[in-house]
Amino acid sequence: MSNIVFIATSLDGYIADKNNGIDWLHTLPVADDLYMEFEQHMENVDALVMGRNTYELVASFDMDWPYRKPVFVLSNSLSEIPFELQEKVSLITGELNEIVVQLKTQGFENLYIDGGITIQHFLAQDLIDEMIITTIPIVLGGGIPLFGTLDESLMFKCIASHCDKVGMSQQHFVRQR
Ligand SMILES: NC(=O)c1ccc[n+]([C@@H]2O[C@H](COP(=O)([O-])OP(=O)(O)OC[C@H]3O[C@@H](n4cnc5c(N)ncnc54)[C@H](OP(=O)(O)O)[C@@H]3O)[C@@H](O)[C@H]2O)c1
Repeated sequence: MSNIVFIATSLDGYIADKNNGIDWLHTLPVADDLYMEFEQHMENVDALVMGRNTYELVASFDMDWPYRKPVFVLSNSLSEIPFELQEKVSLITGELNEIVVQLKTQGFENLYIDGGITIQHFLAQDLIDEMIITTIPIVLGGGIPLFGTLDESLMFKCIASHCDKVGMSQQHFVRQR
């Protein structure tokens, strides 16, 4: 039963650049082992919980819906999901700890938590159990940060670390409570 982050950041900790762009994520080719890590992660999770901004970005891509697991979109402003996505995507709102309990009761034990504000809200309530962070070796100098301020610090333990041939690194952290 885990809430897991799997995300890519710049060296200076941004998940999108100053223009909300993510093209820099694809500066380097993704090595097979990093790709396999993502596939393994997708296999492990039962559903995704995603912020509205990330959902809208993914939905705007000119491609088929990329997730094979149910996606729950956090939003206080959206009122409906387009018809073609209604079997794959649901809207949710409310207190995060209650949402997590509700989803786990429905059998969604392992959740992939995605979106900057969303991850920060989960961290603020100490609801993140694991973080797999891929670092792209670029200093963006500004953008949307992965982390924000917290009332109290949270200790994680690195259980795996990997540096690939093209220069990307990936660390797997587990919350130490
Ligand atoms: N580098 C990567 O791997 C990666 C991965 C994912 C996303 N991104 C980038 O990150 C950016 C999007 O992240 P973001 O930080 O802007 O936001 P986000 O977390 O995707 O979305 C934030 C929105 O989610 C809703 N929300 C969050 N917590 C909520 C709660 N507890 N209850 C109800 N609604 C809640 C709110 O929507 P309402 O305003 O509708 O209430 C809020 O404005 C995009 O640029 C995307 O490309 C990068």
